[in-house]
Amino acid sequence: MNYQKVKGTHDFTLDKAEELKALESIFLESSYRYNYHYHDVPVMEYSELYLRSVGEGSDIVRKEMYTFLDKGNRSITLRPEFTAGIVRSIVENKMQVTSVLPIKSCYFGRCYRYERPQAGRYREFYQGGVECVGTKGVNSDIEVISLLLSFFNAIGIKESVLVKLNYLGSEETRKTYSASLKEYFLSHIEDMCEDCKERVNLNPLRILDCKAKEDQKIIEGAPKISEFLSDSDKENLNMIISYLKDKGITYEYDRGLVRGLDYYSGLVFEIYPKDNPTSEGALAGGGHYYGLVKELGGGDLEGVGFSFGAERLLSYLEERGISLAKRKSKKIYVMPLSPECLPYSEDIASSLREAGYLVEVDYSLSKITSMFKKAERLDMDLGVIIGEDEVSSSSVHLKDLRKKEEKTVSKEGLLGEIEK
Ligand code: HAM
Repeated sequence: MNYQKVKGTHDFTLDKAEELKALESIFLESSYRYNYHYHDVPVMEYSELYLRSVGEGSDIVRKEMYTFLDKGNRSITLRPEFTAGIVRSIVENKMQVTSVLPIKSCYFGRCYRYERPQAGRYREFYQGGVECVGTKGVNSDIEVISLLLSFFNAIGIKESVLVKLNYLGSEETRKTYSASLKEYFLSHIEDMCEDCKERVNLNPLRILDCKAKEDQKIIEGAPKISEFLSDSDKENLNMIISYLKDKGITYEYDRGLVRGLDYYSGLVFEIYPKDNPTSEGALAGGGHYYGLVKELGGGDLEGVGFSFGAERLLSYLEERGISLAKRKSKKIYVMPLSPECLPYSEDIASSLREAGYLVEVDYSLSKITSMFKKAERLDMDLGVIIGEDEVSSSSVHLKDLRKKEEKTVSKEGLLGEIEK
């Protein structure tokens, strides 16, 4: 029998695994600079958490959750996203009482959604993201977007993305808007798709991003959120738009953007590749939430955050020929030519590793030509060749394996030469 991975999951091996780890570490580093702290929560939660937060009207809860009864007959769900778990953890640990507000958490880990697998859409995938809980007003919304863009800058794609945004208004605005949408859609419901017949009662906002052909004309005629925004909603939206303009970020105000999760009010946004802005797969998405913390027992606190899909970002980077793992550090192949050279070679390898380089020592003592072939297969950047002459003169023979240039350098001068 040949064993295969579960449909919609994937293995990360070799280069792909390194790219994933590099993405995670660059993201956490970017978050740290904004004073966000790593926060880890379980992959399993009681299902009720997602019903109450992501919402019974969302596609995630209606169709996509991995839910099962454990041996104690409790309904358990594998996390389809992080926000609910992070807020649950903040409230359960009373961090909103004991910590300085806002609480700024960042995370990176696996999520599970039972979706139809296709490029960029998996059943098991990685999300990274942040949540800023216990904030007020629009400044944290801007900070969160700024963090996301600074992360995109660090991975080399800031200039090639488009921010789509919408403003769902305060909780009050959203409620009034929702009621008006419901009334409008109920008057057309006979002609709408089966999904929307359910959505109209569960969450009529979700109808706005329904893709069914028969619904498009009806959706076009629906009331627009912009007609419902209060003066302070408009002021907040304008502040966010001014920020994006000032920073020269390409953005689009999209009144149909409602996001697939029920907890949002205020700002919602999604990030797309500029050259494919209508693709179904956003690179990242997020927004502001008013009611979520209260719903989970944590009082009247607002929050804002975003999550990105790691697989989607990695394939976008690959299309653009960007490698994060390679950019981080040169790979060095140390080649001792005889057993007498081993201790000195190990000494050199340790000091290079301490300086942050990836170093592989070839212990085979085989012919130099076969060592070079191996170095090429391992995609090494530099070769450090060490024979008895190098040991006695405290030097090494350094070869740039890409440019094919070589020279002898002293042990002390080696790091400086590599950094050049
Ligand atoms: P979301 O839009 O559902 O938002 O997911 C965020 C990102 O996760 C998406 O933009 C996409 O890149 C990635 N993603 C989602 N589903 C899949 C999938 N099946 N396969 C691969 N990648 C996927 C949230 O999850 C919210 N919790 C974001 C947030 C944080 N809002 C406030 N704070």
